[in-house]
Amino acid sequence: MLQGKTALITGAATGIGRAIALDMARSGANIALNHFNTPKDAKEAYELIIAEGVRCKVYDCDVADYHATEQMVAGTIEDFGRIDILVNNAGIVRDNLMLRMSEQDFDEVIKVNLKGPFNLTKHLYRRFMKNRSGSIINLASVCGLNGWERQANYAATKGGLISLTKTTAKELAGRGITCNAICPGFIATDMTADLKGESRNEFEAGIPMRRLGSPEDVSMLAVFLASDGARYITGETIRVDGGLCI
Ligand code: NAI
Repeated sequence: MLQGKTALITGAATGIGRAIALDMARSGANIALNHFNTPKDAKEAYELIIAEGVRCKVYDCDVADYHATEQMVAGTIEDFGRIDILVNNAGIVRDNLMLRMSEQDFDEVIKVNLKGPFNLTKHLYRRFMKNRSGSIINLASVCGLNGWERQANYAATKGGLISLTKTTAKELAGRGITCNAICPGFIATDMTADLKGESRNEFEAGIPMRRLGSPEDVSMLAVFLASDGARYITGETIRVDGGLCI
């Protein structure tokens, strides 16, 4: 489905990003794998990706850093010749009641989860326009749709990312470029690793499908959104939440 395309995926060493990288590789895409300070996880992901018979290169870069991301995009284009797909997946949480949330925890989450996708989209904007093609996929969250207690910072970034997605879609649609957001519910990754025992059971009871999702429950949607089959879908926000927000 993605033969000959190159995908730049942020935060792709673990979790949902790794699953997207692997499924895109299985669909024939070469992978530019971004991570930040997680060389062991990145190496592991790299080995799995090249075993699928595609090219992969690893870029250690903080998505919140405007200039470093500009260099990463330039380096990726130099290494692969082109970028066709951008997946803004990197994200962090710093949960707390707003009452106790520090300014630093608010700012850090904004920088990674919202400014990160802006940085990458901005650095690829002209290139995608010139190519008259490109797919941008942003990992938002159901928290961005509904808000969530103890996640004022995180929910604000994900709501902002949904608006960024729609704006990008409107600005670039005339050139055949798509931009869509995926809103996962609760997915079993490092991000939700604190959900254990009783509290995990409680969460699962509140999900109509009665289980947390897996990264693989999310990843094939990203493959589809990046494929030619989705070329007329843009500005869309799709939940992958086992029915949580019905
Ligand atoms: P994860 O923690 O496994 O993945 C996030 C990745 O981003 C990690 O590999 C991390 O090292 C990387 N990262 C963090 N800061 C970075 C930075 N400054 N620059 C580059 N990379 C950075 O967690 P998961 O669950 O795979 O998260 C992936 C995306 O899915 C995130 O955007 C998250 O907000 C979103 N999401 C996850 C949900 C869940 O329940 N796990 C639910 C809804 C959305």
